[in-house]
Order: sequence, then C-alpha cells, then structure tokens
Amino acid sequence: MAAAKPNLVVLSGAGISAESGLATFRDNGGLWNNYSVYDVATPEAFHKNPELVLDFYNQRRNDVRKAKPNPAHEALAEAEEQFNVHIVTQNVDDLHERAGSSNVIHVHGLITQARSSVTQELYELADKDIQIGDKCPQGAQLRPHVVWFGEYIYHMDEAVQLVENADIVVVVGTSLSVFPFAGLVEYASPEAKCYLITQDLDQVPTGFEYRQGSASQLLPKLLTELTN
Ligand code: APR
Repeated sequence: MAAAKPNLVVLSGAGISAESGLATFRDNGGLWNNYSVYDVATPEAFHKNPELVLDFYNQRRNDVRKAKPNPAHEALAEAEEQFNVHIVTQNVDDLHERAGSSNVIHVHGLITQARSSVTQELYELADKDIQIGDKCPQGAQLRPHVVWFGEYIYHMDEAVQLVENADIVVVVGTSLSVFPFAGLVEYASPEAKCYLITQDLDQVPTGFEYRQGSASQLLPKLLTELTN
C-alpha cells in the first residue's frame, strides 16, 4: 500500500501569473494604478457604465488568451506526482488549469466564463459566439463571472478545510491584502510547514518562512526541496 501523499495547499495570487505577462493589481503599473476599482470592479459600476466594465474585462480576457503558464504553474502541476495538491487561487486566469493542475478553486471567479445576472447560469467564453455583454435568454446582460468588491467570494468553506488539513501551505504571488482570502493563512495548523513566496510584503504571517523573489524561480526550487 503506497504511503498517502502529503497534502500540499497553495494559495495563489496575481504574482504567480506576472511572469506570464498578466498584470498584477497593486504593484507599480498594476491594474489598480490605472483603473479605479469603483469604475470597473463593483456591481454599481456595471450598472452605471456597463461598456467601461465590459471593455476592462474583455481586455483582460484577451490578455489571458495570449498568456502561457510559466514554470511556477508548471511546477505545481508536476508536484501532483509527490503531493496531494490543491490550489486555492484569487486569480481569474486559467493558467493553473492550462499547466495541468487538477484541483483548482477560483474564489474570485474565472474570466473565461460569463454569468447571467438573472439566472446565475454560466457560459463558457471559449466559443467565440458568446461574449460578456450579450443578452442571456431572459434578456439580462451577461456579466463576467468575476467576484466584484462587495460581493461574496466562492468556495470559502472548502478552502478553509483544505488549509486546516494541509501538511504544507505555500502562499505565492499575493499581497494578502484582500479578505476573506487573506485570512486563510490563519487556518494553517501549527504542525504544517508554511512558506510565502512574493516580491514584497508588509508583514509575513506568523509561522511562514518568507522567500522573497520570483515565483517562476523560487516555487520550482521550493517544491524540489520539499520532494527530497
Ligand atoms: N513573483 C512572485 N511574486 C510576485 C511577482 C513575481 N514575479 N510579481 C509580483 N509579485 C507579488 C507582489 O510582490 C505582490 O505581493 O505578487 C503580489 C501581487 O499582489 P496584488 O497585486 O495585490 O495581487 P493579489 O494579491 O492577487 O490581489 C488580490 O485583489 O483586486 C483584488 O480581486 C483582485 O484577486 C485580486 C485580489
């Protein structure tokens, strides 16, 4: 009987996709340096100026289409050989999936899907004939399936359980500035090995070993260390 694989839970943010060419939010040049959250990332903004919001998300959707997974995403997919890997991501890109990761939870939604604000039905944007902004059969405008400020996030209970049962927790590429996602680090058990990979951070959560630098370099290195 093979020994059970250790539970590895990854909490990822925009920084893991930065080296794939996707903008982060709060770094220099990040999205929130160029747009106001209140103009493009709230339900009120969509109601007030849907064109601006749809244009913002269509641009990000196109950027995601052009982006490729980087060595950080790929190392996590490969790690499934040694670990029971679950990824809880704030990212709305599908780079973890495209790298081959099997268990990915998107707490802030997915930019590859549209949602009817009447029926909550989801529509894949892969097929070119559906766009955000189209009308659903009930006549409501399809919105991006992305969580806006002031809205509930998805799968939080499942994410808490995963972190509580983790043998290893790796936080990568997030400023940990948005709750409730950022609060997940508090659920790591004292016995878990906890690591944080990012480029700059105000404070390191208690019990986390901080590794400052690039995700595409430091994450594969860390996973190799953990395997040996
Ligand atoms: N390698 C590792 N870390 C990086 C890299 C990189 N190449 N580039 C940037 N980072 C780090 C930055 O140092 C920062 O700590 O990634 C983090 C990005 O932080 P944010 O821009 O705040 O992104 P994130 O934490 O994912 O934002 C959370 O805020 O606006 C909401 O819904 C949005 O999901 C998003 C949430």
